[in-house]
Amino acid sequence: MSLLEDVTHLQEEALGQISKAESLESLNQLRVTYLGRKGSLTAILKGLKDLPEEDRKRAGTAANMCRLALEEEIKTAQQKLSAPAECSVFDPTLPGTANYVGVAHITTQSIREMCRIFYGMGFEIARGPDVETDHYNFEGLNFPPDHPARDMQDTLFVEHGRLLRTHTTPVQVRELEKRKPPIKIITPGKCFRKEAVSSRAHVAFHQVDGFLIDDGVTMADLKGALVAFCKAFFGEGLKIKFRPSFFPFTEPSAEVDIECFLCSGAGCTVCKNSGWLEILGCGMIDPNVLEMSGHDSERYTGYAFGIGVERLAMLKYKINDIRLFYNNDIRFLRQFK
Ligand code: DAH
Repeated sequence: MSLLEDVTHLQEEALGQISKAESLESLNQLRVTYLGRKGSLTAILKGLKDLPEEDRKRAGTAANMCRLALEEEIKTAQQKLSAPAECSVFDPTLPGTANYVGVAHITTQSIREMCRIFYGMGFEIARGPDVETDHYNFEGLNFPPDHPARDMQDTLFVEHGRLLRTHTTPVQVRELEKRKPPIKIITPGKCFRKEAVSSRAHVAFHQVDGFLIDDGVTMADLKGALVAFCKAFFGEGLKIKFRPSFFPFTEPSAEVDIECFLCSGAGCTVCKNSGWLEILGCGMIDPNVLEMSGHDSERYTGYAFGIGVERLAMLKYKINDIRLFYNNDIRFLRQFK
């Protein structure tokens, strides 16, 4: 056997033994056996001088490479053997890994909370389709075909003249066409608008509309119901303001503002320095809406309101970006247990 073959054979054998070594002592023994002064590799190196020059060079390089490989392997094995043994004892006092239990989305939670409050005030719940006709989304709500108020609702149209409802108010018309007063209903659901997505606006969002129709309903009833709702949802001590506004389906119309949660009314960027934040639209149902759906507007009156769900949740939980409701970031969702 040539010296070169000896080196290869020795390297294989040594590496095999090093990997099997079970203690630092046996590892040290192997070092002495192969690399020590009287070790087998050392003996090979000593024999090099008797070889012809060409063979000496090749065998010399191989022997040095072998030395390096063995040293490296011994070092790694040493580190492994000196690492503290893994604790295999079961310690029942250590904290366990908690299982995360999923919860309803914050939008769903908010809708449920709103429904719970209105249900307690005697409202029934009704729903309508996301894809609507012009009749229910606009016409039946007193938006004439070319009325500029349609501009307020950036509509997404789908085929066959249908559209994605821009508010949940169409369910009012659907229910008015089906029922006789007294009617006391809330209509939670999804809405869609062709908005540029930003921290304050999204193409998809939710509303809870509500309305009451009966003999002698007045604006005082509307105010009483909404103040009671705001107190139940946000807590006592909240400042609320009714401000005149316009909607084609209510007359008179109003919007409700609450005191800005960030600056407590002092004025900041969130409330655009006004100290107030708008949370809903409302008013007395326009006689035209009642007549169009077959009700006697001389006899019956009614109030209606429409609340933005994400808007309300943002104010209650101090969420500064509406996109968070749609990003499905578990770190955000997990905060609402
Ligand atoms: N539908 C309106 C909107 O999306 C909000 C609204 C205002 C609903 C007044 C109502 C109401 O029922 O009476 O902007």
